[in-house]
Amino acid sequence: MSSKRIAVIGTGYVGLVSGACFAYLGHKVIGLDIDEKKIELLRKGEVPIYEPGLDRILRRALERGNIEFTTDYEYAVKNSDFIFIAVGTPSKEDGSADLSYVESAYKSIAEYIGNEDFKIIVNKSTVPVGTGRWAKEFIKSLLEKRGIKNPEERFEIVSNPEFLREGKAVEDFMKPDRVVVGADNRDIAGMVASLYEKLQPAMLITDLPTAEMIKYASNSFLATKISFINEIANICEKLGADVTVVARGMGLDHRISPYFLNAGCGFGGSCFPKDVKALIHTAKSVGEEPKLLSSVMKVNEKQKLRPIEKLLKHIPELKDKTIAVWGLAFKPETDDMREAPSIPLVRKLLSLGAKVKAYDPVAMENAKKVFKEEIKTFGEKLLFVDDKYEALEGADALILITEWNEFKEVEFDKLKGKVIIDGRNIWEPSVMRQFCVYESIGRV
Ligand code: UGA
Repeated sequence: MSSKRIAVIGTGYVGLVSGACFAYLGHKVIGLDIDEKKIELLRKGEVPIYEPGLDRILRRALERGNIEFTTDYEYAVKNSDFIFIAVGTPSKEDGSADLSYVESAYKSIAEYIGNEDFKIIVNKSTVPVGTGRWAKEFIKSLLEKRGIKNPEERFEIVSNPEFLREGKAVEDFMKPDRVVVGADNRDIAGMVASLYEKLQPAMLITDLPTAEMIKYASNSFLATKISFINEIANICEKLGADVTVVARGMGLDHRISPYFLNAGCGFGGSCFPKDVKALIHTAKSVGEEPKLLSSVMKVNEKQKLRPIEKLLKHIPELKDKTIAVWGLAFKPETDDMREAPSIPLVRKLLSLGAKVKAYDPVAMENAKKVFKEEIKTFGEKLLFVDDKYEALEGADALILITEWNEFKEVEFDKLKGKVIIDGRNIWEPSVMRQFCVYESIGRV
């Protein structure tokens, strides 16, 4: 495989993982970010996010001289042939995707494309369907303004959506289920596809809007699976069925597959909620009424508070009761708190007058930022403690929200006599009920 020159705009988890992995594969990568402090850290091989395996890959790439970091757009654009955009596309108030970071990346890139250049601009950021074609016109007009001749011949836009899970991002990059590349020009799409050659992935080459849609449809489908199994779980509880076994039985059918059928207290993170909302917004903008997708979100909002409904069955008055909370991150193996089910859940406990003692193995610092206002307002009623057992001291009940491994191996003695709400079905009901009041999701 020949080594290619790649710039990656944005060193968040998608940009950094993609950049470091491309460099690890032998390409020459320039990582760009406007945040100078971050760039300083990265030059030293320090990873500013919690992502297992990433520090090792990054250091190896730095040692081999395959990756460098800069804040200088001119340098990045002039010294690369492929420019990947991996900046955030957060949700706006109305659910639509905020494209301001993507737009400003296009503008900065367009400033440095010269008369003799040909740059392949690849969107890794999740952008609404249609953005690629719009970007073509946008960049063309920027180049025209600069007096660049035949501007449409100076660049091509490609969509190459990412399917990386936080916490497993390096593994997902190195062993992808598939690589999707969409472009109006198939040869150019093929050139982007060849960057992944060494990984020998299943490859799908499409047009631009189709590639963009594959990303939204995939995330929305996974979110739908979760809301579906959560709804089934709630019905199971009323009928005496066990949702974990139901999911296993369903998953044995290869048309269904066993993945993303774990019932719990809802999905969070920076992707599913944002992408489902954005797809709903896009659908409405073209006159569609996506009822299923809207229900996926509604079921999820309700499910996040399901553990509290269960708690109230056993402790109807939470005023001045102490509730331990285990797990704050939106899922294990990450310190990410974005859209975490713990956020509405802790807020609701506080509003019901409970005292909360919360613990997470890695997300404590981020959690303190998220709950900044509550820390001020509720003072001693919201405590962040350094150890899972410390959270249990004096607690009347425990709610488990995130299924970190360290919670699975617990000294059961410490849970004795408490009300335990297991929001992720990590313990065995028959074992737990021997020494505590135990509730889980979709199991009686
Ligand atoms: C998700 C997708 O899985 C990735 O393929 C995609 O690339 C990424 O979004 C993205 O768009 O960037 P991620 O948000 O890291 O990845 O997290 P997941 O592992 O998918 O979990 C999302 C949420 O669903 C978590 O809150 C998790 O607890 C919940 N979940 C997951 C369930 O409640 N049940 C399940 O069976 C699986």
